[in-house]
Amino acid sequence: MGIKLKDKVAIVTGGGTGIGEAICKKFAREGAKILINGLSGDPIKDVAKAIADDGGEAITFEGDVSDEAAARGCVDTAIKRYGKLDILINNAGVLLANAQTDDMPIEMFDEHIRCNVRSAFLMTKYALPHLRKTRGNVISAGSEGGVNGQPRNTPYGGTKAFLHAFMMGVAVEQAQYGVRANCVAPGPIDTAWTHKETGAVDAKVEKALLSSVPFGRRGTPAEVANVYAFLASDDASYVTGAVWLVDGGTTPAKSAVGGLARREISKPPANDLDLHHSHEGLKDKELVKIS
Ligand SMILES: NC(=O)c1ccc[n+]([C@@H]2O[C@H](COP(=O)([O-])OP(=O)(O)OC[C@H]3O[C@@H](n4cnc5c(N)ncnc54)[C@H](O)[C@@H]3O)[C@@H](O)[C@H]2O)c1
Repeated sequence: MGIKLKDKVAIVTGGGTGIGEAICKKFAREGAKILINGLSGDPIKDVAKAIADDGGEAITFEGDVSDEAAARGCVDTAIKRYGKLDILINNAGVLLANAQTDDMPIEMFDEHIRCNVRSAFLMTKYALPHLRKTRGNVISAGSEGGVNGQPRNTPYGGTKAFLHAFMMGVAVEQAQYGVRANCVAPGPIDTAWTHKETGAVDAKVEKALLSSVPFGRRGTPAEVANVYAFLASDDASYVTGAVWLVDGGTTPAKSAVGGLARREISKPPANDLDLHHSHEGLKDKELVKIS
């Protein structure tokens, strides 16, 4: 068990699958108590049990946090159980469509705004009064796509750019109370989203995603969780208003250099987080793919 987050209380939205599962398990390993949020059907109870079996502490809150009552209830539940809140992780989000802008169904646009933008706004709004008491911090899931744009799901890229600017504004506004706010901005990560079998990508997009990464591979959920743990900890006490890229060099790459990576470089590092739900995030969700 680590000590980076000893005695901290954290809420992780969308914590049942993918990167969220890794954040929950990493934070628990570092000594935090976790409230794991997820939609109905997400394996949040399974993640909480795995944390308890590993000697950590976690509770769950099922609910769609783009709904005002659910967002408020999520924060209230953490306070009621643990008496304080140190860390809010706005990880919940969706990427449900692969279509050009003129083909994008309007209801898909609305769904991305609801799950990616509205949820993070509501959770931050209700968490801030508690974060001020602990001089805590909030981290939102940005994206490389929020910096460079996301072709074939342009609204998604827009929602992530919103989160970058939202966190910068919160950082400057709340610094006077000792509250920090940052974004983690991953490139393609090995979750349901980046595989043609499970995500809103086809074979061409999947190939293009990987060839844009100088490391020539997806990042692992654990590699992203490591950065969340650092930013959430007191080790990052002078980091606020940052958009922390975890994209294997995708953003500065000017061409498809992924093919240059040597075989030993494109092998992901091992981790000991024992993840079971990395590829389940889009189970039962409706995807739109228009070629
Ligand atoms: N996978 C990637 O390549 C990648 C890249 C950049 C950024 N990200 C960001 O990381 C975050 C996690 O992505 P992931 O790949 O682990 O996907 P994922 O689908 O495995 O995880 C997202 C989780 O959020 C939950 N969720 C969605 N809307 C919700 C809501 N309104 N209320 C509560 N829970 C909700 C989902 O059910 C799911 O469990 C997302 O915000 C995503 O934008 C992912």
